[in-house]
Amino acid sequence: MDDKLQSTVDAVHDYWNSHTLGLQYMTDRNLEVGSSEFFDHIRPWMNPYKFPWIMKRIEREAALLKGKHLLEVGCGMGYDSLEFLKRDVRVTATDLTPNAVDLTRRHFEIEGVQAEDVRTANALELPFDDHTFDAVWANGVLHATGDTARAIQETRRVLKPGGRAIISHFYRRPSWMYYLHRWGRENIEYKEEDPPVNEFLTEEEITGMFEGFEILEVAQDHYRALPVRRSGLKAALYTYGFKPVYNLIPEPVAKRYAYKVSVTAIKV
Ligand SMILES: C[S@@+](CC[C@H](N)C(=O)[O-])C[C@H]1O[C@@H](n2cnc3c(N)ncnc32)[C@H](O)[C@@H]1O
Repeated sequence: MDDKLQSTVDAVHDYWNSHTLGLQYMTDRNLEVGSSEFFDHIRPWMNPYKFPWIMKRIEREAALLKGKHLLEVGCGMGYDSLEFLKRDVRVTATDLTPNAVDLTRRHFEIEGVQAEDVRTANALELPFDDHTFDAVWANGVLHATGDTARAIQETRRVLKPGGRAIISHFYRRPSWMYYLHRWGRENIEYKEEDPPVNEFLTEEEITGMFEGFEILEVAQDHYRALPVRRSGLKAALYTYGFKPVYNLIPEPVAKRYAYKVSVTAIKV
């Protein structure tokens, strides 16, 4: 990895190590981070519960992968991996940051599930041999690493031939969020600070990076404006102005402005 990419990875690491996805939804400051009550409190805002299409994707994939070995890249607090484990998929859960790994271990312990491994790993240099996994799952991660194409090709390297890459929630351009973010000058992930990298990519750019894969599905996700757990003037404008009006747009048109795109592909 060259020095420029390494310094991006260092910045990404420092950001996400102190902004583990989920902490921003903790409104009850009396809760202990990592307690059973904490995981329950933020659960409705976490990916598979907040976005029903993610849960459906987990169910679809888990039915194919029972007893097989899935790698999650960028697991955050481990909610997606947890749902795979509950469905008898063998899981290795990884994240760039030690805080996410510690919270995921704690989360699995509380839920009474057993992963193959939970460890730190960089999506751009996965510490696994070629042809190790039956599937790789990454959700909201690869476009935030500093080199999306390289991250996709790393998933390919560690997949067995015929293995499945299920890569959800690349940030999409054009999209309603892309314009809102640009013109509204509001952060996306955390109110006070966004990650150092969050690439918005066109569908053509994304699918072009899946060299060596057969693409099975390209899904336009998050094409409706959903509730946000924020307060203040911009949040009110979004909730009472933009959201109800935007959500009147007919589905085929709204899909063209979906905020996220997800790709399922097979290694050939
Ligand atoms: C938006 S969060 C998504 C977390 C989780 N997938 C979820 O949906 O809740 C992005 C995650 O990617 C991780 N990440 C960023 N760059 C990474 C890299 N190079 N390798 C592995 N994980 C990375 C961050 O630490 C963070 O946990």
